[in-house]
Amino acid sequence: MSDYTTIIAETQGRVATITLNRPEALNALNGTLVRELIDAVQGFDDDPGIGAIVLTGSAKAFAAGADIKEMAELGYADMYLDGPFPGWGGFERTRTPLIAAVGGFALGGGCELAMMCDIILAADTAKFGQPEITLGILPGFGGSQRLPRAIGKAKAADLVLTGRMMDAEEAERSGLVSRVVPADELLAEAAKVAEAIASKSLPAVYAAKDALQAAQEMPLAEGLRFERQAFAAAFATADQKEGMRAFAEKRTPDFRHR
Ligand code: CAA
Repeated sequence: MSDYTTIIAETQGRVATITLNRPEALNALNGTLVRELIDAVQGFDDDPGIGAIVLTGSAKAFAAGADIKEMAELGYADMYLDGPFPGWGGFERTRTPLIAAVGGFALGGGCELAMMCDIILAADTAKFGQPEITLGILPGFGGSQRLPRAIGKAKAADLVLTGRMMDAEEAERSGLVSRVVPADELLAEAAKVAEAIASKSLPAVYAAKDALQAAQEMPLAEGLRFERQAFAAAFATADQKEGMRAFAEKRTPDFRHR
């Protein structure tokens, strides 16, 4: 973990925190950062001792997008065969809940990275946007697909086609972010949310995340069938028995994540 040069990865109890750390480039996502990020996320995801992952940047920038200087001279085949970032699918398949704690700029790939997280907490200083159009390109990290699903076509087109930014208040009103908090409370609030999730039964949390993901990807009837199976499967876990017994006995459940 300590060998990373562009991120900081740490754990406290069952919560992992990954801090993007390229301040000289406003945390622009270059090859090294993305490799390290995927490695850290997969490592935490493989560890059943970790129940939630917070992803954050600096007060000025969550991430100002893919690294424009690194991409500038690449061609079609570079992008189509290798890019934008090899191995990204591993990040998308993460089962552990991801909480983006966004302060400052979340632009382009930075906004797209936040949208791949399950929950986005925004500081009141946060600014979101897909400014790729101003560079002569379009979002390449899922933005043209996830943004309309998150905030609807009208708002998404306004952002993607003009490249303008929206502030935290507009992002919350549009449904992009879960909550806006004062900037100096962002990390504490993210830790609270992460701890709340990490204290729950891991199999139940994984299944709930899967079901929420299914809602993004499946027609309603298929999603409801998926939920029905996942709900029934929860009754095969010891944690379901413990959770319901604890309720009846008016005590806090002692989940074993089994
Ligand atoms: N790539 C590479 N370097 C970047 C960067 C990026 N995306 N964003 C900022 N930087 C660098 C700047 O070049 C600058 O470096 P130097 O000091 O060496 O010149 C440093 O970070 C500080 O940035 P600014 O001086 O520009 O800071 P500012 O406060 O004046 O402006 C900003 C902040 C509005 C975010 C501005 O930096 C900006 O517009 N950045 C680019 C945003 C962008 O277009 N993102 C989309 C990238 S493309 C993409 O993401 C494709 C995709 O979907 C996969």
